[in-house]
Amino acid sequence: PHQWLGVIEEYRDRLDLPDGTPTITLREGGTPMVRSGWLSGLLGAEVWLKVEGNNPTGSFKDRGMTVALSVAVGEGAKAVVCASTGNTSASMAAYAARAGIKPLVLVPQGKIAAGKLAQAIVHGAQVIMVRGNFDDCLRISRALAEDYPVALVNSVNPMRLEGQKTASFEIVDFLGRAPDVHVLPTGNAGNISAYWKGYKEYVESGDASHTPVMRGWQAEGAAPLVLGHPVSDPETVASAIRIGNPASWDLAVAAAQESGGRFRKASDDQILAAQRDLASRDGVFVEPASAAGVAGLLIEHAEGADLRGQTVVVTVTGHGLKDIDTALSTFTELVDVVVDPDVESAARAAGLA
Ligand code: F0G
Repeated sequence: PHQWLGVIEEYRDRLDLPDGTPTITLREGGTPMVRSGWLSGLLGAEVWLKVEGNNPTGSFKDRGMTVALSVAVGEGAKAVVCASTGNTSASMAAYAARAGIKPLVLVPQGKIAAGKLAQAIVHGAQVIMVRGNFDDCLRISRALAEDYPVALVNSVNPMRLEGQKTASFEIVDFLGRAPDVHVLPTGNAGNISAYWKGYKEYVESGDASHTPVMRGWQAEGAAPLVLGHPVSDPETVASAIRIGNPASWDLAVAAAQESGGRFRKASDDQILAAQRDLASRDGVFVEPASAAGVAGLLIEHAEGADLRGQTVVVTVTGHGLKDIDTALSTFTELVDVVVDPDVESAARAAGLA
């Protein structure tokens, strides 16, 4: 029976890999395109969710990590390091475990979701908590990789973007054309840069006739690309995108400009509302940061933007189970309903009797 082989085997001829690179894979990619009936109806558009939480470690990071780890192993690395707001560390730890090399992760202390931390720990990573933010962790990780025998696999490693661009290929392969608009959350800005690379390559190879407009959404308190300058003290409930100085700044700005798109920001409340709506209306549970693109669509709709007749893809980047504390914290009115163990009590409590 056919099984999706992972992004390296599925798209090998489109990836720029050194000769002799081994394949370290968990069969990432091949994620669902789920039509949002709710958003399609609201906007009068065809709105598709690219559900990246269905990757092996629950986020889009696996696409880049399979490539970065494979190349690192091919080059003889015995240890890998990354800075992370959580998902990159979870993914790197899993792929390093598979490769049999040592994962070292630097995370901002107290600022990463419990699910992600659990993944890194269980996969065997050495986790270093830094009294600082993601930007500090990245600065330190870069320096460690320069001075010590440990390979850096943050998205400043071009092999990460090489893997992540495959999401664009999958979208065009599925739709039979490129979307008109692509919307996604933006933090360190690697993903929007990778998508743009993928879309452009499909046009160059004749597999698509146009590229979409790229729209990146940041959290209000961590919106350097909207402000046009780094933010020294980024803050947002969407911990995955709590980043003040994105590493792929120039590539991301080029993606927005060349595609006719731009960066905007959503408030924490708008992000959490979008997370809830997506879960309760479409049945898709994503982590807070992952809902930033959906929040953005709702904001633009409320402002009167006209997307009627357009094909819109929204990447929802990570799984809701990564961060249940934040998700549940929005349900302040929720009260446990406890009953005696009999049918009548349950029926009465449920309003059925
Ligand atoms: N959504 C999620 C769930 C993320 O984890 C990230 C980034 C983004 C969106 C933003 O993507 O950085 O390519 O613009 N997480 C990184 C990490 C920073 O360490 O896991 P980006």
